[in-house]
Amino acid sequence: MKAQRFFGAFSALFVVLALTGCGSLAVSGAPAEPLVVVAGATGGTGRALVSNLQDQGYRVRAFVRDADKARVVLGDVVEYAEGDVRDIETIVAALKGADYLVSSIGSSRSDPANNPEAVDFGGVKNLADAAAQAGLSQFVLVSSSGVTHDDHFLNKVMDNVLKWKFQGEEAVRASGVPYTIVRPGGLVNAPGGNHQLTFAQGDTTSGTIAREDVALICIAALGNQFALGKTFETFSTEQPGVNNWDEKFAALDAD
Ligand SMILES: NC(=O)c1ccc[n+]([C@@H]2O[C@H](COP(=O)([O-])OP(=O)(O)OC[C@H]3O[C@@H](n4cnc5c(N)ncnc54)[C@H](OP(=O)(O)O)[C@@H]3O)[C@@H](O)[C@H]2O)c1
Repeated sequence: MKAQRFFGAFSALFVVLALTGCGSLAVSGAPAEPLVVVAGATGGTGRALVSNLQDQGYRVRAFVRDADKARVVLGDVVEYAEGDVRDIETIVAALKGADYLVSSIGSSRSDPANNPEAVDFGGVKNLADAAAQAGLSQFVLVSSSGVTHDDHFLNKVMDNVLKWKFQGEEAVRASGVPYTIVRPGGLVNAPGGNHQLTFAQGDTTSGTIAREDVALICIAALGNQFALGKTFETFSTEQPGVNNWDEKFAALDAD
């Protein structure tokens, strides 16, 4: 990707030089790197998103509830936009000038006001509506496997979290924004990029996956035409290897 961008910028420069007929370095036409807003940037998956987006040459804006606290976790290498997914105006402000939005937000058990209905449904709906309004190229949402299973034990112990996540997904699908919805299995903290990953549809399988692998899937989906309008579950396998993202996304059915 970096190489493609380099050659893109190089040819733009060549055109400028050819048109002006001079050798001065008029690079003002060089394209800027795409800007990705990350909601949930301080979380486990969010941190992996931020660092891997930066490694792959994207500009990152972290949408966080408390920038001072976030700076301790993420440092000064990203832009910050303060806000809360329950307040759509703060999202609208955070999306100014952005190309993509990725969300790995999740409700918290410790704060009753930040519950699954308000965050996993209401917050995700706000993100999708704001992204549609801003004309973003794509919204990539981290949801969860099991969201279509109303009798899942997590619904009983966590305020119907999976039911609300499914309602959040439905809001994304209805919003009109180009989207990709990733439904990971149980999240583990382990290095990503080492294993073959399974993509599945129908919400009938389960398993686990490293948070960093989820982040790498979200990033691979950005700007990938084969990933648009698709919802899928993903799990890790024991098999080492590199994933062919285009092949994996292309094999999925559109919603
Ligand atoms: N745990 C699992 O096994 C599992 C399995 C499948 C799917 N998932 C889902 O995968 C996603 C990522 O999980 P994770 O464990 O990496 O996340 P996490 O560490 O719990 O991080 C959640 C993030 O959401 C942010 N957030 C919470 N409420 C917010 C609000 N009202 N406005 C703005 N930001 C808010 C938090 O920010 P603050 O720093 O401000 O709190 C934090 O950055 C979640 O949606 C989770 O439900 C989890």
